[in-house]
Amino acid sequence: MKLRIHLVAGARPNFMKIGPVYHELVKTDWAQPLIVHTGQHFSADMSDVFFRDLQLPLPHYHLNARGDSHAQQTAMVLTAYEALCLSERPDWTIVVGDVNSTLAACLAAKKLNIAVAHLEAGLRSGDRTMPEEINRLAVDSISDLLWTPSADADANLAHEGVPSSRIQLVGNVMIDAFCLLEAEIRSAGLPEKMGLSRCRYVVATMHRPANVDDAVALGNVVGQLVGLAGHTQVAFPVHPRTKKRLLEFRLWDSLEKAGVTLLEPLSYVEFMSLVEGSGAVLTDSGGVQEETSYLGIPCLTARDSTERPVTISLGTNRLVKIDEIKESTLLALEQERRNCAIPYWDGRASKRVVESLRSRGEHSARRG
Ligand code: UD1
Repeated sequence: MKLRIHLVAGARPNFMKIGPVYHELVKTDWAQPLIVHTGQHFSADMSDVFFRDLQLPLPHYHLNARGDSHAQQTAMVLTAYEALCLSERPDWTIVVGDVNSTLAACLAAKKLNIAVAHLEAGLRSGDRTMPEEINRLAVDSISDLLWTPSADADANLAHEGVPSSRIQLVGNVMIDAFCLLEAEIRSAGLPEKMGLSRCRYVVATMHRPANVDDAVALGNVVGQLVGLAGHTQVAFPVHPRTKKRLLEFRLWDSLEKAGVTLLEPLSYVEFMSLVEGSGAVLTDSGGVQEETSYLGIPCLTARDSTERPVTISLGTNRLVKIDEIKESTLLALEQERRNCAIPYWDGRASKRVVESLRSRGEHSARRG
């Protein structure tokens, strides 16, 4: 009998992580991968479009667990995923990343003694005011198997006393997603279609609560982007959280007037096409720090800390204060792209994940 493996995904960055693993698992004769969509992200442009780009089937299970606050979101996924596990008990639950759905599914499965593997384990920003840091700490402390993207993550887990038998360095599965779709991304030509000058324009993304939920912080970000747009083209795909705040704080119009190109959320292929053609990227996203490092494109991260320090030590990332955004981005635009090879960021992380599961398969033989 095949091992039933739930791949749980809820928010936009999760879909790129389960995609490559799904495609590897489905090739085997011993695993039955089943996609569980929690419903945390629900708009077509934050969810469905990624399933299409990544050539994934429709989710096998949709929990429709859509809550507004952290507690609601977590509780709704917890309740709904517990019910699914009770009726369709998996042999393994794989959770990815650090969003509320990750924590909730992990908790529900572990309370039912289901084996849980966490993909992208061990990352730490040290900033416990960020909800993602709390999710990472909690998930790593109870998951059975911790798949890490880089050596710093292994060191964090060792420092927290996690036995090495639970940790496996598999690499960065986001890079697998890029490699899988690289041909489509390179031929998508979004920058040309938008009239952007290759390697001369800036891509901006911003969605962290600390940057966008506070009127003063978001006002400062907008002021910097308006200044930047006076010197270079800026393309800004706007996250729904950010759009809501820009409208609420009446900041949207000043971006438009300054000539910032405001875009709806893009598909994965479109977004990576935009990033690939850019001269520099300004962001507060985790995944974008990784993708720019892989591509050798200068990245400015508007945060005080990062859980992905390898993107600074071996990649192209730099942390910036909000009031430095304009000057730092203009300087970054003058930098050459550079090759940077981060160990295990080679498009083969999902193969290592599958091998890791296969080698442990017999230990999780189906119960009844
Ligand atoms: C969540 C993750 C964050 C991740 C981000 C990627 C947590 C704690 N946060 O933040 O780590 O970087 O996803 O996008 O899990 N909305 C829509 N349509 C959608 C999704 C969201 O309109 O499909 C709007 C809703 O108004 C929602 C708001 O955006 O209330 C924020 O969404 P939410 O999932 O709460 O958090 P994100 O900011 O997306």
